Amino acid sequence: METVTVQSRAPIRREVVVPGDKSLSHRALLFAGLAEGTSRIRGLQGGLDVAATRRCLEAMGVAIRSDGEGLQVEGRGVGGLTEAADVLDCANSGTSIRLLSGVLAGHPHLSVLSGDEYLRRRPMARVLDPLREMGALAVGRAEDTRAPLVIRGGSLRGLTWTLPVASAQVKSAVLLAGLHARGTTWVEEPAPSRDHTERMLQAMGADVLREGSRVGVRGPGRLKATEFPVPGDPSSAAFWVAAALLVPGSRVRVRGVCLNPTRTGFFRILQRMGAPVLMQETGTACGEPVGDIVAEYGPLVGVSVARDEVPSAIDEFPALGAVAAVARGETEVTGAEELRHKESDRIDALAAELRKAGVAVETFSDGMRIAGGAPLQPARFQSHGDHRLAMALAVLALAIPGGAVIEGAAAAAVSYPGFWQELLGGG
Ligand code: S3P
Repeated sequence: METVTVQSRAPIRREVVVPGDKSLSHRALLFAGLAEGTSRIRGLQGGLDVAATRRCLEAMGVAIRSDGEGLQVEGRGVGGLTEAADVLDCANSGTSIRLLSGVLAGHPHLSVLSGDEYLRRRPMARVLDPLREMGALAVGRAEDTRAPLVIRGGSLRGLTWTLPVASAQVKSAVLLAGLHARGTTWVEEPAPSRDHTERMLQAMGADVLREGSRVGVRGPGRLKATEFPVPGDPSSAAFWVAAALLVPGSRVRVRGVCLNPTRTGFFRILQRMGAPVLMQETGTACGEPVGDIVAEYGPLVGVSVARDEVPSAIDEFPALGAVAAVARGETEVTGAEELRHKESDRIDALAAELRKAGVAVETFSDGMRIAGGAPLQPARFQSHGDHRLAMALAVLALAIPGGAVIEGAAAAAVSYPGFWQELLGGG
């Protein structure tokens, strides 16, 4: 499924269940591997990124087996992973390589972590720098800025670290190293990023501390095995919500989605654009609020999105680009330079693809301005190897008279393996 053709279509009126949350799935596997006893995971996301975390853990001695309803993970205890016999292949997954780096900084053996061509271009100094400060050998290609990474950890000491950019992956890496360290490790962020790591570690018995805008962990810590019912991924739900907003007459309900406020910024931005989008909380799972998202077609107006809104919508800017192309007026995003360091440079790549459909886009070092509402023209889009770009462009294609072709469509399998079937085959 390298190339897919998406036609503009009839109203989408349906209920959707999206795959398990990617961030929670990585963490469930990893933290279960570090726990004492057997953990159970239900609803683990089946994408390629999460599979990479699973393979790496198995290569370090964690036994993971299917039990019919989900997975059982035999934890090895904090500090109990064994040395892998080969390079740990994190494929396309930034979460795998960064969180594992933090964990492996607490292990005295040698680890080499790498991944695909896209991952090997992404910045890693932000993770390696604090791990070295804590006492690990943590180096990488290109003067310690890129993977492959080499880590030989050991007796770490607690650290107080201020992140230069809001990043849940880096925060998590430092907290996970802190779990293996002597003393307290504190992380301060410029803006709150997703807080799944701190919620989960606390629920598993770690001594997690919060003080104003900083979060800490007292080490060395221990984790108790637990149950992980992984809720749906709001970042996957985003594509269905955007589709409902773009196709006249549509109404979509996405069931059982993680509604952690550090993840739902996109839906709040849509509400500001005038979109009839509702989040209906129904309970909790994995220590996270869970519920349905309901979205209906309606007229949209462009908005400005500034720095403080960026972290809680960080993965949804490709989907926002599709919505902004159709909204009346301009949508401007600033304070989002992090988008340049995702699975693709999501500022340049998104702008290049939107322009192919006739959308006027201006880019800045830290964002973009999209002029919405002009007639869209059929296009041959390119995913740039980026799963979210592939899916966002497919959603935009629904609003293009004559549709569009998406090249590199297979990238969607990184987070949403059934996406094309559901979009093209669904009612
Ligand atoms: C993630 C954090 C975010 C996000 C990524 C998943 C996580 O990355 O973009 O898709 O699971 O912690 P950053 O930490 O680089 O912002």
